[in-house]
Amino acid sequence: MKREIKNIRDDYKLLRKNKKLIFFNSSATSLKPDIFIKKISDIYFNWETSFSKSSWLDENNNTIEEYKNSLNKVAKHINAPFKDILPTYGTTDFMNKIVRKIIHNLNDGDEIILGKLEHASNILPWLNIAKEFGKKIIFKWYKLNNWKVDLIHLNTLITKNTKVMSVAHVYNTTGVKNNLLEIKNTIGNNITLVVDGAQGIGHVKIDVIKDNVDYYLFGAHKAFGPHALGFAYIKNLENIKEPWTFGGGNNSTYNEYSVEYKEGKQKFIVGTRDVPGVISFGTSITYIESFGIKNIEKYNNNLKKYAEKKIGSLKNINIINKNVDSSNLFFEVNGVAGEDVGYYLAQNEIIVRTGTNCVKFKNENYKQYKSIRVSFHIYNTKKEIDKFYELIKSGGDFLESLFKKNPKSKICK
Ligand SMILES: Cc1ncc(COP(=O)(O)O)c(C=O)c1O
Repeated sequence: MKREIKNIRDDYKLLRKNKKLIFFNSSATSLKPDIFIKKISDIYFNWETSFSKSSWLDENNNTIEEYKNSLNKVAKHINAPFKDILPTYGTTDFMNKIVRKIIHNLNDGDEIILGKLEHASNILPWLNIAKEFGKKIIFKWYKLNNWKVDLIHLNTLITKNTKVMSVAHVYNTTGVKNNLLEIKNTIGNNITLVVDGAQGIGHVKIDVIKDNVDYYLFGAHKAFGPHALGFAYIKNLENIKEPWTFGGGNNSTYNEYSVEYKEGKQKFIVGTRDVPGVISFGTSITYIESFGIKNIEKYNNNLKKYAEKKIGSLKNINIINKNVDSSNLFFEVNGVAGEDVGYYLAQNEIIVRTGTNCVKFKNENYKQYKSIRVSFHIYNTKKEIDKFYELIKSGGDFLESLFKKNPKSKICK
């Protein structure tokens, strides 16, 4: 029996404390529910965990068990075999590591397919690490059709030299979800499919097996979990011979000349792990699953639809991601910079994101300096959208807010 997505604001101390706060910026990071905060605080208050030999704590707690259970929960949530899932330090950090590994094995003339709506974290590692290695990699750019990968165009990019495609599961600007299986079927099994899942986790169903992806990376902080912790699915991880990082934890012995690595995925984990983070993120996964991920996606998409109808009915509004399923409303107010709208809204305790959103290639369908991203999650309601609508409606040219000496909201101080 799934929990109904209703009165969810009560799950968050931040929202209970700030009754007027409307948080429309979940694509940046999600709020953290009390149950997650309680779990992680409990660990720091009462356990203090780390994996080390002869620890009083390991004997008195189920640290290792809880850690494994949590990792297992994450694996199950994305339908990954346990052997193929690794804890990481977030999407960006691991993208850099994996790109280094992949490019190391490529040759001059090999091709990589990227897209211009991708987040900087899924473009800059590729371009810069290729440059650093001095490899003459050819970058090709897929086009979009109705804000998704244009499969017909994608097909025309593929040659015998195409080795990799890296793509967002869900775009952080438009919030539109790609069909990963269709992409994989278009590029075929000989091309490695890397998925930036930063916006996928906690928002949409992830099934790495059904979608036949090779890498799926995400962070915990956008899915009710801790910052700077992430997870990666790597298909057949055991086939990777050399790890990407070196140090304590992944070796069984070494001398001046050589090192012997541990077996299995242990080979890929070095340094002190975020044990409290991994364990408490298990609570976040349980939280997501208490509603059902498909219900979450549906709920958020309905909020977007509702907001699009209301905001889109106003004069001077251009909905950028019109008529598409998404949990984000991405729009412009004609003649006004997005930042001015954002400032005006923040004065009224509504938090949105404006500007580039870490996507800096020009896009013919919108202007970055004008764009406003309203990103929804389960703690948002139609009532909040109604308030947002009233404010946009009465915002005038929004410039007035810039000259107010004492903004009402403490957020702006
Ligand atoms: C699509 C996308 N990729 C990557 C990132 C970076 O993720 P992380 O914060 O886990 O490094 C973000 C975060 O905004 C994102 O939206």
